[in-house]
Amino acid sequence: MSTTASRAESVSRQRPLGVRSAVTDSLLITSDVSALHRVQDVYRPQEDTALLVDELTSADLSGLRVLDLCTGSGAVAVAAALAGAQVTAVDSCRHAVARTRRSAADAGVEVRTVCADLADVSETGFDVITCNPPYVPTPPGTEMSAVGPRHAWNGGPDGRAVLDVVCAIVPGLLADGGTVLIVQSELSGVDATVAALRAAGLRTEVTSERRIPFGPVVRSRHDALVESGFLDPESDDEAIVVIRAQRTGDRPGRAEPA
Ligand SMILES: C[S@@+](CC[C@H](N)C(=O)[O-])C[C@H]1O[C@@H](n2cnc3c(N)ncnc32)[C@H](O)[C@@H]1O
Repeated sequence: MSTTASRAESVSRQRPLGVRSAVTDSLLITSDVSALHRVQDVYRPQEDTALLVDELTSADLSGLRVLDLCTGSGAVAVAAALAGAQVTAVDSCRHAVARTRRSAADAGVEVRTVCADLADVSETGFDVITCNPPYVPTPPGTEMSAVGPRHAWNGGPDGRAVLDVVCAIVPGLLADGGTVLIVQSELSGVDATVAALRAAGLRTEVTSERRIPFGPVVRSRHDALVESGFLDPESDDEAIVVIRAQRTGDRPGRAEPA
């Protein structure tokens, strides 16, 4: 295994590098859905962003090749670059890509940006892949959207429209020993993500969990989500988790031993 591959394997097991505050200082806790977008319909860093950045930057990333899928404002990509990684950031929204370029320039780091649907990413050999996809279940009456603000969080009827694609493609994009870090809510099937990544031969576990009060998107859909069985009417918070999966050198598609 290469040196970078062994270091990729140790992502999230080492001491924090202290770059989180540099990129999530602008963390916005808001009660207003429209305030989630500061610049041209781009998702502002939230609690899920911070959880992913914390996990990512707990390791030495210097020299590693990092791919940030669904990059949005570029907060995760910039955190990786500040920690010394060579970063490629992908988003299908051109405003997000423009915002990421600006975030990188503001932080004084280099981030390669690609405006594309993540399903079309074909470059391989990444040591670390991060993703904070849209994962809020899209209840009846709430449109899935190919553009605009809802594109940042609408996850389809079960919240997994993008998550399932992520699980399908990431095993093939990783270097041997490479690590995937995906953040999502308990509302969108954590077990399904873990099962899909294990079925692709990745050693997979939930490594971080944080309970957070419902954000503005879930609150704005509370009644519909209760009606569709996603939420307990009494609940006012949800768990968000980071799922960490490693390619061990086995071929994708080979089941992981129990
Ligand atoms: C929840 S935001 C995450 C933003 C950022 N990574 C963060 O953690 O703050 C999800 C992002 O995914 C992008 N997105 C949605 N579907 C996509 C797809 N199929 N391919 C690439 N990007 C997509 C949206 O444009 C949005 O910027």
